[in-house]
Amino acid sequence: MKNLLEIRDLKVTFPTDDGLVQAVDGVSIEVAPGETVAIVGESGSGKTVTSLSVLGLHNRKLTQISGSIIVKDKDESLDIVSAPLDKIRGYRGRVVSMIFQDPMSSLHPYYKIGSQLAEAYLVHHPGQKEAANNKALEMLSLVGISEPKVRAKEYPHQFSGGMRQRVMIAMALMNDPAVLIADEPTTALDVTVQAQILQLLKDLQQKLNMGILLITHDLGIVAQVADRVSVMYAGRIVEQGGVDDIFYNPHAPYTLGLLKSVPRIGRAGSERLKAIPGQPPSLINLPTGCAFAPRCEYISLAPGDSCQTLKPDLLGLADSHRSRCHVPEGMRDKSFAAEIKGART
Ligand SMILES: Nc1ncnc2c1ncn2[C@@H]1O[C@H](COP(=O)(O)OP(=O)(O)OP(=O)(O)O)[C@@H](O)[C@H]1O
Ligand SMILES: [Mg+2]
Repeated sequence: MKNLLEIRDLKVTFPTDDGLVQAVDGVSIEVAPGETVAIVGESGSGKTVTSLSVLGLHNRKLTQISGSIIVKDKDESLDIVSAPLDKIRGYRGRVVSMIFQDPMSSLHPYYKIGSQLAEAYLVHHPGQKEAANNKALEMLSLVGISEPKVRAKEYPHQFSGGMRQRVMIAMALMNDPAVLIADEPTTALDVTVQAQILQLLKDLQQKLNMGILLITHDLGIVAQVADRVSVMYAGRIVEQGGVDDIFYNPHAPYTLGLLKSVPRIGRAGSERLKAIPGQPPSLINLPTGCAFAPRCEYISLAPGDSCQTLKPDLLGLADSHRSRCHVPEGMRDKSFAAEIKGART
């Protein structure tokens, strides 16, 4: 297997008192060595549920999961969906690691940074305390924290937000993982620190040849760092392709909507940002047809009432570019062309 991570037809459902929440519905994503794959989509589209599945972090008693998540470790591989928990624990943090959405709640306030880092190493290298401490110092300096010996003895509150995020990255890298999942790694940070952290991730990726699965709702970040992109809406991938496919030749109306809602320097003053009208649907009662139909401006271009009655398939356009939309390509191309131009300039 050339890929480090292969998610195939992943479905994640949470039974709740109100009914079944279909949070992820048939997601397939691959990540190869040295590659950054972004998952982008509005709040609630299923990005975090997907990434937690890769680490096997859902409670199996309270969650229905199907499909497969194959993670490669040197000569063997593991299907996280069906593997026993003790096997998964051996992979978590070592083969696949994750930077969580909120660094403050992921670091323990009472323990020194150095010992928290060392602990992450000791989980997979029991008893090797000296090696763990050395690795902690090495990783702190790798992520650009000066005087690592001094800083290792400090507590999380003594670090700034940007520094804490660097510590989280250091912690995720303690066991040299093949795949790093970064869930909104920079949302809590100001833009200059954000840029530094993204650059740091890129540098580390080159050095370590890691695959990165980057979760974000920020298209600016996607444009900056991603090689390939999956756009998610209401638990499904609505478009998937190379970063240029998504930015220069978007096919799903939702992708176009996201592009048009990004602020841009140089946009004519009279031109207002165009937010996508309406709200994402409830995941308990998804519409019978396309989940985006109630918010879509292009349904009149599709044949009959297909948008309201039929779920569109994720179909190939060219190479690895695929999208889910009933509007025929030719029709859409004409009306999109002007809009895309507006969205990009
Ligand atoms: N344990 C759970 N039980 C029931 N519903 C859940 C559970 N976990 C997540 N969900 C629902 O699944 C959907 C997807 O959630 P998820 O956290 O993946 O969104 P997200 O795309 O990461 O959003 P955000 O950008 O806000 O982080 C949401 O509607 C959420 O309420
Ligand atoms: Mg999330």
